[in-house]
Amino acid sequence: MNITVIGTGYVGLVVGSCFAEGGNDVVCVDNNQEKVSRLREGVIPIYEPGLPELVERNVREERLSFATNLPDAVRRSLVIFLAVGTPTTPSGAADLSAVFQVAREIGQAMDRYKVTVTKSTVPVGTAAKIREIIRKETKHPFDVVSNPEFLKQGAAVEDFMKPDRVIVGADDPRPAEILRDLYAPFVRTGNPVMIVDIQTAEIIKYAANAFLAARISFMNEIANLCDAVGANVDMVRMGLASDSRIGPAFLFPGVGYGGSCFPKDTLALIETGREHAYDMKILQAVHQVNINQPKRFVEKVTQHFGQDLKGKHFAVWGLAFKPRTNDMRDAPAISIIEMLVERGATVAAYDPEALEEAKRIFQSRIQLCPTNYACLEGADALLLLTEWQAFRNPNFERMKATMRQPVIFDGRNIYESETLQELGFSYFGVGKR
Ligand SMILES: NC(=O)c1ccc[n+]([C@@H]2O[C@H](COP(=O)([O-])OP(=O)(O)OC[C@H]3O[C@@H](n4cnc5c(N)ncnc54)[C@H](O)[C@@H]3O)[C@@H](O)[C@H]2O)c1
Repeated sequence: MNITVIGTGYVGLVVGSCFAEGGNDVVCVDNNQEKVSRLREGVIPIYEPGLPELVERNVREERLSFATNLPDAVRRSLVIFLAVGTPTTPSGAADLSAVFQVAREIGQAMDRYKVTVTKSTVPVGTAAKIREIIRKETKHPFDVVSNPEFLKQGAAVEDFMKPDRVIVGADDPRPAEILRDLYAPFVRTGNPVMIVDIQTAEIIKYAANAFLAARISFMNEIANLCDAVGANVDMVRMGLASDSRIGPAFLFPGVGYGGSCFPKDTLALIETGREHAYDMKILQAVHQVNINQPKRFVEKVTQHFGQDLKGKHFAVWGLAFKPRTNDMRDAPAISIIEMLVERGATVAAYDPEALEEAKRIFQSRIQLCPTNYACLEGADALLLLTEWQAFRNPNFERMKATMRQPVIFDGRNIYESETLQELGFSYFGVGKR
């Protein structure tokens, strides 16, 4: 099948490469000329495990190419995926300007029947608006389908290749069958391709993200209560996780969720509720807990060192919003570091993949180090903010010898407090001591 994917970010690049791997001819279009030039030179602008090999193979075998010319790509394709960004506007709603702009360009380029698919996360009702925009631009027949994406950054290729389910929102059997054929190679083990109406598909995506965000905020509240009463949230978590009605996923408390999806999508769903005169009370609380969680973490630091952090030097391990990505969009590390710096502290930080992003965000306001041990030099405490595998079993003796004071604030609860206390560290977890 000839496919165009518009937007070559964390989603578009994975989607395009995976469809090419499935034997389709794919053009990935982006209006960022520099990104497209770099991709054509074989430079992958993001860190995503398994992606470089996939891109390289499919480019070499001429199933995958990169372009800035949207009309050309649209004319040679039957199916066009929209994977452009839908960031948050000041009101909390999703910014759909890129989606609508691209819809207009697709309509103008149409020369025969085509299926436009929303892969971007868009509020309920967006596909209908896209249909109107395209209809104004063309006399050719077309369909608009919703096919939300559920991949996780850090395991995006695997998730796309073996999806738990594929959701297709379609109001007509013809485009639904086209999408079913397209996904057939990815669901050979029998995982469902669910065909639903368009509004339902649009809601499923937001409901999934909001539910996962709610689990995290819920556990953060339980952890905060554990802090107050002296209970151990690790044990509480295991007590919950072994209940088959609850299960173990997304029960880890910490410094709050970040990334380009959970914060944005919970806000957008609250906003959708508001537009339909429905108050999404649970999600407002989910959001509020998440906003407070980095602040509570910094309070642990100020409770130990005092409000004025002038003269204090902190090491930070982990900057990306989660492991196995370089993405720092809405990463809790940003607000935590800003709060420390505002109180007069200096910060030296390390992340295995996000240093380039961090340089762009912090410029020279913090020191970025080439290794995790390098940032411990003279540190009054270590703040662990992203649970990269490489941070799980460090050499604590070496750390203690390098730091000015042996203090660890563990924002992801990856260390055993007893072990650290035996080694002479002061240890502060989230919901455990
Ligand atoms: N990141 C995730 O894990 C994830 C998972 C599922 C769904 N989503 C959704 O997918 C969408 C894309 O997310 P992302 O993380 O890939 O974003 P991104 O910012 O990484 O990528 C968006 C890309 O679109 C390009 N673009 C913007 N306007 C354009 C235009 N008019 N024409 C052509 N290209 C244009 C940008 O240059 C950029 O390369 C969002 O709606 C997001 O909510 C993201």
